[in-house]
Amino acid sequence: MTSNVSNYNVDEIRRDFPIFEQEVYGKPLTFLDSAASAQKPQCVIDAISDCYSNEYANIHRGGYFLSQALTAKYEASRETVQKHINARSSKEIIFVRGATEAINLVAQTWGRSNLGAGDEIILSQMEHHSNIVPWQMLRGEKSFDIKVSPIDERGNFLLEDYEKLLSEKTKLVAITHVSNAIGTITPIKEIIKLAHKVGALVLVDGCQALPHMEIDMQDLDADFYVFSGHKMYGPTGVGALYGREELLEKMPPYQGGGDMIRSVTFDETTFNDLPHKFEAGTPHIVGGIGFAAALDYVAALGFDNIHDHEKTLLDYGLEKIKEVDGIELRGQAEKQAGILSFTMETAHPHDIGTILDQDGIAIRTGHHCAQPVMDFMDVPATARASFGLYNNTDDIDRLIDGLHKVNRIFA
Ligand code: ALA
Repeated sequence: MTSNVSNYNVDEIRRDFPIFEQEVYGKPLTFLDSAASAQKPQCVIDAISDCYSNEYANIHRGGYFLSQALTAKYEASRETVQKHINARSSKEIIFVRGATEAINLVAQTWGRSNLGAGDEIILSQMEHHSNIVPWQMLRGEKSFDIKVSPIDERGNFLLEDYEKLLSEKTKLVAITHVSNAIGTITPIKEIIKLAHKVGALVLVDGCQALPHMEIDMQDLDADFYVFSGHKMYGPTGVGALYGREELLEKMPPYQGGGDMIRSVTFDETTFNDLPHKFEAGTPHIVGGIGFAAALDYVAALGFDNIHDHEKTLLDYGLEKIKEVDGIELRGQAEKQAGILSFTMETAHPHDIGTILDQDGIAIRTGHHCAQPVMDFMDVPATARASFGLYNNTDDIDRLIDGLHKVNRIFA
């Protein structure tokens, strides 16, 4: 299938991803779980393999050729991340294990030094556990309050209700850009603007946004923005925290160890400059390089093309899924990313997942690490099909056939 986006040939793009050469149980692999983790193009696999085969040494530490060359490449990867999100400086890009670590970093450094009794932070009803639990853990010690910004039954973020929660007590709004569980795209620019009006900072969980849309830090004006490499067609174990330089400068370090120091005696340690102040120990060197390769790959395809292609898929999926009896879509916000989250009258989500798997169709079932939004929707779990830049309408047709089969089996 060639997409209706003129210069976007999804058949060719699929050939960049070796995973699609295989069959599962003798059926073509229908991979509809990119929101959990995306598949990797050959160029990312090659970047990782080349690095270990030909370029590898520890970085920031060796005076010899390999170490110096790889240090330069790792720091160039940081610049790739910086440019990709249009941050002002590469000092604002902290490499971390992933979005979860980035949020914990902000909670334990900025949060620990700035939040206390009488303060409030605002989360949304549809946050991933990684943007709830770190704040609850800190609240246990620091006694600030957590307010929850509501959504409506279709999954729309309720901007007016959010505005009412804001006050001079609000110190931080920590909110997702795109919900992993129900696909809502939040009005993040307005959310940030309103928070700034009362002097609150904003941390955005950008995990599910980065693979699907152009992200511009200078335009968004977020204070912190976090994302993982593996959802962006890059390796696992690497991600980034963007933080405004003046905030990062004032924040204490996160973990102590090598690389984050300038000098150490038993009496005193002085800390390294940004971004190294927050990167203790040997980093995931090859991960950073693979992440940059993934960003280059996605940028070359063009975000407008990816967006249009995924929108076409979503519209097609929304139309086709209506043909299946007993489907209830959980999450039908006005602005929706490429995620179909649903339940069926006939079968539990886990059973749906099992039946689809027998036909080589991979979806995620469960609470998607977002139990509060499942509670709000009054379901224990959903079945979730999520799209990546390599999906095509055949994938959706096979999903729909599989859902008819679920109905036949459980009817
Ligand atoms: N947070 C990931 C998901 O949505 C793992 O599936």
